[in-house]
Amino acid sequence: PPVSLLGAPTDIGAGHRGAGLGPEALRIAGLPEALAARGIDVVDRGNLDGPRNPWQPPTDGYRHLGEVVEWNRVVMEGVAAELAAGRMPILLGGDHCLGIGSITAVANHCRKAGKKLRVIWLDAHADFNTHNVTPSGNIHGMPVACLCGLGPQELTQLGGNAPALHPSEIRQIGIRSVDEGEKRLVQEHGLDVYDMRYIDEVGMKRAMEEALDGVDADTHVHVSFDVDFLDPSIAPGVGTTVPGGPNYREAQLVMEMIADSGGMGSLDIVELNPLLDAQNATAKLAVDLVESLFGKSTLMRD
Ligand code: ARG
Ligand code: MN
Ligand code: MN
Ligand code: MN
Repeated sequence: PPVSLLGAPTDIGAGHRGAGLGPEALRIAGLPEALAARGIDVVDRGNLDGPRNPWQPPTDGYRHLGEVVEWNRVVMEGVAAELAAGRMPILLGGDHCLGIGSITAVANHCRKAGKKLRVIWLDAHADFNTHNVTPSGNIHGMPVACLCGLGPQELTQLGGNAPALHPSEIRQIGIRSVDEGEKRLVQEHGLDVYDMRYIDEVGMKRAMEEALDGVDADTHVHVSFDVDFLDPSIAPGVGTTVPGGPNYREAQLVMEMIADSGGMGSLDIVELNPLLDAQNATAKLAVDLVESLFGKSTLMRD
Protein backbone atom coordinates (compact mmCIF):
# COMPACT_ATOMS: atom_id res chain seq x y z
CA PRO A 1 0.00 0.00 0.00
CA PRO A 2 1.02 3.65 -0.23
CA VAL A 3 2.95 4.98 2.76
CA SER A 4 2.66 8.22 4.70
CA LEU A 5 5.41 9.56 6.94
CA LEU A 6 4.22 11.45 10.03
CA GLY A 7 6.79 13.23 12.19
CA ALA A 8 6.16 13.71 15.90
CA PRO A 9 9.10 15.81 17.05
CA THR A 10 8.94 15.48 20.83
CA ASP A 11 10.78 13.99 23.78
CA ILE A 12 7.84 14.65 26.10
CA GLY A 13 7.80 11.14 27.62
CA ALA A 14 11.56 10.61 27.85
CA GLY A 15 14.22 11.23 30.49
CA HIS A 16 16.76 12.65 28.02
CA ARG A 17 16.27 15.56 25.65
CA GLY A 18 16.82 14.99 21.93
CA ALA A 19 14.37 12.35 20.69
CA GLY A 20 12.36 15.28 19.31
CA LEU A 21 15.01 15.54 16.61
CA GLY A 22 14.29 11.99 15.43
CA PRO A 23 12.00 12.82 12.50
CA GLU A 24 14.53 15.16 10.87
CA ALA A 25 17.40 12.72 11.49
CA LEU A 26 15.44 9.97 9.71
CA ARG A 27 14.64 12.27 6.78
CA ILE A 28 18.26 13.40 6.50
CA ALA A 29 19.35 9.75 6.59
CA GLY A 30 17.24 9.28 3.47
CA LEU A 31 14.15 7.43 4.64
CA PRO A 32 11.71 8.91 2.07
CA GLU A 33 14.12 8.29 -0.81
CA ALA A 34 14.88 4.73 0.36
CA LEU A 35 11.19 3.85 0.34
CA ALA A 36 10.60 5.52 -3.01
CA ALA A 37 13.55 3.56 -4.43
CA ARG A 38 11.70 0.38 -3.49
CA GLY A 39 8.85 1.48 -5.72
CA ILE A 40 6.66 2.55 -2.83
CA ASP A 41 4.31 5.50 -3.20
CA VAL A 42 5.50 7.57 -0.23
CA VAL A 43 4.26 10.96 0.93
CA ASP A 44 5.92 12.88 3.75
CA ARG A 45 3.13 14.63 5.65
CA GLY A 46 5.67 16.70 7.59
CA ASN A 47 5.50 17.10 11.34
CA LEU A 48 2.57 17.02 13.73
CA ASP A 49 2.46 19.79 16.29
CA GLY A 50 2.06 19.56 20.05
CA PRO A 51 3.06 21.18 23.33
CA ARG A 52 6.69 22.04 24.01
CA ASN A 53 8.60 20.09 26.65
CA PRO A 54 8.41 22.01 29.96
CA TRP A 55 11.13 19.71 31.43
CA GLN A 56 9.54 19.33 34.85
CA PRO A 57 10.03 16.61 37.48
CA PRO A 58 7.29 13.97 37.82
CA THR A 59 4.14 14.65 39.82
CA ASP A 60 2.17 11.69 41.21
CA GLY A 61 4.39 9.28 39.29
CA TYR A 62 4.05 10.94 35.88
CA ARG A 63 6.24 13.43 34.14
CA HIS A 64 4.39 15.77 31.75
CA LEU A 65 1.14 13.80 31.79
CA GLY A 66 -0.96 16.60 30.30
CA GLU A 67 1.48 17.19 27.44
CA VAL A 68 1.83 13.45 26.82
CA VAL A 69 -1.95 13.14 26.51
CA GLU A 70 -2.07 16.06 24.06
CA TRP A 71 0.72 14.65 21.85
CA ASN A 72 -0.91 11.23 21.82
CA ARG A 73 -4.25 12.69 20.81
CA VAL A 74 -2.60 14.43 17.88
CA VAL A 75 -0.72 11.25 16.90
CA MET A 76 -3.84 9.11 17.19
CA GLU A 77 -5.75 11.46 14.89
CA GLY A 78 -2.92 11.63 12.36
CA VAL A 79 -2.46 7.87 12.22
CA ALA A 80 -6.22 7.25 12.07
CA ALA A 81 -6.57 9.61 9.10
CA GLU A 82 -3.88 7.75 7.12
CA LEU A 83 -5.40 4.34 7.86
CA ALA A 84 -8.86 5.59 6.89
CA ALA A 85 -7.39 6.77 3.58
CA GLY A 86 -6.01 3.29 2.95
CA ARG A 87 -2.41 4.33 3.54
CA MET A 88 0.27 2.79 5.76
CA PRO A 89 1.33 5.26 8.46
CA ILE A 90 4.97 5.39 9.54
CA LEU A 91 5.26 7.41 12.73
CA LEU A 92 8.64 9.12 13.03
CA GLY A 93 9.13 9.73 16.74
CA GLY A 94 9.67 11.13 19.09
CA ASP A 95 9.85 9.00 22.19
CA HIS A 96 7.98 5.74 22.76
CA CYS A 97 5.10 7.26 24.75
CA LEU A 98 3.70 8.07 21.29
CA GLY A 99 3.05 4.37 20.73
CA ILE A 100 -0.08 4.88 22.82
CA GLY A 101 -1.68 7.18 20.24
CA SER A 102 -0.35 5.32 17.25
CA ILE A 103 -1.44 1.86 18.37
CA THR A 104 -4.77 3.09 19.73
CA ALA A 105 -5.55 4.35 16.22
CA VAL A 106 -4.39 1.07 14.69
CA ALA A 107 -6.46 -1.01 17.12
CA ASN A 108 -9.60 1.04 16.41
CA HIS A 109 -9.01 0.64 12.69
CA CYS A 110 -8.66 -3.14 13.06
CA ARG A 111 -11.84 -3.43 15.16
CA LYS A 112 -13.78 -1.53 12.49
CA ALA A 113 -12.29 -3.50 9.60
CA GLY A 114 -12.79 -6.83 11.42
CA LYS A 115 -9.07 -7.55 11.23
CA LYS A 116 -6.93 -9.35 13.77
CA LEU A 117 -4.08 -7.31 15.25
CA ARG A 118 -0.55 -8.42 16.06
CA VAL A 119 1.78 -5.85 17.63
CA ILE A 120 5.48 -6.66 17.28
CA TRP A 121 7.21 -4.58 19.95
CA LEU A 122 10.97 -4.37 19.26
CA ASP A 123 12.61 -2.94 22.38
CA ALA A 124 15.20 -3.40 25.10
CA HIS A 125 12.42 -2.52 27.56
CA ALA A 126 8.97 -3.92 28.29
CA ASP A 127 7.52 -0.38 28.71
CA PHE A 128 4.98 -1.88 31.14
CA ASN A 129 5.41 0.44 34.11
CA THR A 130 2.61 2.17 35.97
CA HIS A 131 2.79 5.31 38.14
CA ASN A 132 2.99 3.08 41.23
CA VAL A 133 6.08 1.18 40.15
CA THR A 134 7.92 3.46 37.69
CA PRO A 135 11.46 4.28 38.81
CA SER A 136 11.51 7.45 36.69
CA GLY A 137 8.01 8.79 36.07
CA ASN A 138 8.90 8.85 32.36
CA ILE A 139 5.83 7.86 30.39
CA HIS A 140 7.90 6.29 27.59
CA GLY A 141 8.33 3.44 30.10
CA MET A 142 4.52 2.95 30.28
CA PRO A 143 2.93 2.71 26.80
CA VAL A 144 2.31 -1.05 26.73
CA ALA A 145 0.66 -0.90 30.15
CA CYS A 146 -1.52 2.02 29.03
CA LEU A 147 -2.55 0.22 25.84
CA CYS A 148 -3.58 -2.79 27.94
CA GLY A 149 -5.70 -0.62 30.23
CA LEU A 150 -3.25 0.04 33.08
CA GLY A 151 -2.63 3.73 33.56
CA PRO A 152 -4.31 7.11 33.75
CA GLN A 153 -7.75 7.18 32.17
CA GLU A 154 -6.74 9.99 29.79
CA LEU A 155 -4.31 7.55 28.17
CA THR A 156 -6.06 4.19 28.64
CA GLN A 157 -9.26 5.64 27.18
CA LEU A 158 -7.71 7.79 24.49
CA GLY A 159 -9.65 6.01 21.76
CA GLY A 160 -12.83 4.91 23.60
CA ASN A 161 -13.73 3.17 26.85
CA ALA A 162 -12.21 -0.26 26.25
CA PRO A 163 -8.44 -0.81 26.42
CA ALA A 164 -6.91 -0.62 22.94
CA LEU A 165 -5.15 -3.97 23.25
CA HIS A 166 -5.39 -7.34 24.93
CA PRO A 167 -1.97 -8.63 26.08
CA SER A 168 -2.45 -11.64 23.78
CA GLU A 169 -2.12 -9.30 20.77
CA ILE A 170 1.47 -8.26 21.60
CA ARG A 171 4.83 -9.98 21.16
CA GLN A 172 7.88 -8.27 22.66
CA ILE A 173 11.29 -9.00 21.14
CA GLY A 174 14.77 -8.12 22.42
CA ILE A 175 13.78 -7.33 26.00
CA ARG A 176 16.67 -7.08 28.49
CA SER A 177 15.76 -4.34 30.95
CA VAL A 178 12.64 -4.69 33.07
CA ASP A 179 12.26 -2.85 36.39
CA GLU A 180 11.44 -4.79 39.58
CA GLY A 181 7.78 -3.83 39.96
CA GLU A 182 7.35 -3.96 36.20
CA LYS A 183 8.43 -7.63 36.14
CA ARG A 184 5.53 -8.59 38.38
CA LEU A 185 3.05 -6.72 36.16
CA VAL A 186 4.44 -8.33 32.99
CA GLN A 187 3.97 -11.74 34.57
CA GLU A 188 0.52 -10.98 35.99
CA HIS A 189 -0.77 -9.82 32.63
CA GLY A 190 0.81 -12.69 30.73
CA LEU A 191 2.76 -10.67 28.16
CA ASP A 192 4.48 -12.81 25.53
CA VAL A 193 8.11 -11.74 25.91
CA TYR A 194 10.99 -13.00 23.74
CA ASP A 195 13.79 -11.71 25.91
CA MET A 196 17.49 -11.83 25.07
CA ARG A 197 17.99 -14.91 27.23
CA TYR A 198 15.42 -16.75 25.13
CA ILE A 199 16.88 -15.43 21.86
CA ASP A 200 20.37 -16.55 22.97
CA GLU A 201 19.05 -20.01 23.67
CA VAL A 202 16.81 -20.72 20.66
CA GLY A 203 18.12 -18.18 18.13
CA MET A 204 16.42 -15.24 16.49
CA LYS A 205 14.92 -17.31 13.69
CA ARG A 206 12.88 -19.50 15.97
CA ALA A 207 11.94 -16.62 18.27
CA MET A 208 10.53 -14.69 15.29
CA GLU A 209 8.73 -17.72 13.91
CA GLU A 210 6.98 -18.01 17.25
CA ALA A 211 6.27 -14.29 17.49
CA LEU A 212 4.72 -14.28 14.01
CA ASP A 213 2.89 -17.57 14.44
CA GLY A 214 -0.79 -17.20 13.53
CA VAL A 215 -0.31 -14.09 11.38
CA ASP A 216 -2.45 -14.63 8.28
CA ALA A 217 -4.06 -12.63 5.48
CA ASP A 218 -6.60 -11.33 8.01
CA THR A 219 -3.97 -9.94 10.37
CA HIS A 220 -2.74 -6.37 10.57
CA VAL A 221 0.83 -6.39 11.87
CA HIS A 222 1.93 -3.24 13.65
CA VAL A 223 5.67 -2.88 14.26
CA SER A 224 6.73 -0.61 17.10
CA PHE A 225 10.49 -0.20 16.62
CA ASP A 226 12.23 1.37 19.60
CA VAL A 227 15.74 1.91 18.29
CA ASP A 228 17.19 0.91 21.69
CA PHE A 229 16.16 -2.63 20.67
CA LEU A 230 19.50 -2.76 18.83
CA ASP A 231 22.81 -3.39 20.54
CA PRO A 232 24.37 -0.04 21.55
CA SER A 233 27.58 -0.97 19.70
CA ILE A 234 25.69 -0.53 16.42
CA ALA A 235 23.05 1.97 17.59
CA PRO A 236 24.45 4.48 20.10
CA GLY A 237 21.98 7.23 19.15
CA VAL A 238 19.31 6.54 21.77
CA GLY A 239 18.81 7.85 25.31
CA THR A 240 18.31 4.55 27.08
CA THR A 241 20.91 2.13 25.71
CA VAL A 242 21.12 -1.34 27.26
CA PRO A 243 24.02 -3.68 26.42
CA GLY A 244 23.40 -7.13 25.01
CA GLY A 245 20.93 -6.41 22.23
CA PRO A 246 20.51 -7.92 18.77
CA ASN A 247 23.48 -7.47 16.45
CA TYR A 248 23.25 -6.26 12.86
CA ARG A 249 22.54 -9.68 11.37
CA GLU A 250 19.93 -10.58 13.95
CA ALA A 251 18.20 -7.24 13.46
CA GLN A 252 18.17 -7.72 9.69
CA LEU A 253 16.64 -11.17 10.11
CA VAL A 254 13.90 -9.75 12.33
CA MET A 255 13.00 -7.19 9.67
CA GLU A 256 13.16 -9.70 6.83
CA MET A 257 10.95 -12.18 8.63
CA ILE A 258 8.37 -9.49 9.36
CA ALA A 259 8.48 -8.49 5.67
CA ASP A 260 7.99 -12.13 4.67
CA SER A 261 4.86 -12.35 6.84
CA GLY A 262 3.33 -9.92 4.36
CA GLY A 263 1.16 -8.38 7.04
CA MET A 264 2.79 -5.13 8.09
CA GLY A 265 0.18 -2.37 8.06
CA SER A 266 1.78 0.31 10.24
CA LEU A 267 5.10 1.19 11.86
CA ASP A 268 6.56 3.38 14.60
CA ILE A 269 10.25 4.34 14.61
CA VAL A 270 10.92 5.85 18.02
CA GLU A 271 13.55 6.92 20.55
CA LEU A 272 16.15 7.88 17.97
CA ASN A 273 18.27 10.66 19.52
CA PRO A 274 20.71 12.16 17.03
CA LEU A 275 22.34 14.31 19.75
CA LEU A 276 23.84 11.12 21.19
CA ASP A 277 24.97 9.86 17.81
CA ALA A 278 27.93 10.46 15.50
CA GLN A 279 27.42 11.26 11.80
CA ASN A 280 23.72 10.32 12.06
CA ALA A 281 24.86 6.69 11.91
CA THR A 282 22.00 5.30 14.01
CA ALA A 283 19.41 6.94 11.78
CA LYS A 284 21.18 5.51 8.72
CA LEU A 285 21.10 2.07 10.31
CA ALA A 286 17.40 2.49 11.07
CA VAL A 287 16.77 3.37 7.41
CA ASP A 288 18.74 0.30 6.28
CA LEU A 289 16.62 -1.91 8.56
CA VAL A 290 13.38 -0.30 7.41
CA GLU A 291 14.36 -1.11 3.81
CA SER A 292 14.50 -4.76 4.85
CA LEU A 293 11.17 -4.39 6.60
CA PHE A 294 9.82 -3.33 3.21
CA GLY A 295 11.24 -6.38 1.49
CA LYS A 296 14.72 -5.42 0.37
CA SER A 297 16.88 -8.54 0.23
CA THR A 298 20.19 -9.60 -1.27
CA LEU A 299 18.73 -11.91 -3.89
CA MET A 300 15.41 -12.41 -5.61
CA ARG A 301 13.44 -14.67 -3.32
CA ASP A 302 10.02 -16.22 -3.64
N1 ARG B 1 12.08 1.16 32.40
C1 ARG B 1 12.63 2.48 32.39
C2 ARG B 1 11.61 3.49 32.90
O1 ARG B 1 10.45 3.17 32.99
C3 ARG B 1 13.13 2.87 31.02
C4 ARG B 1 12.08 2.91 29.96
C5 ARG B 1 12.66 3.20 28.62
N2 ARG B 1 11.63 3.22 27.60
C6 ARG B 1 11.84 3.54 26.34
N3 ARG B 1 10.80 3.56 25.53
N4 ARG B 1 13.03 3.81 25.91
O2 ARG B 1 11.95 4.62 33.18
MN1 MN C 1 13.41 0.98 24.95
MN1 MN D 1 10.31 1.52 24.25
MN1 MN E 1 18.55 -3.56 4.30
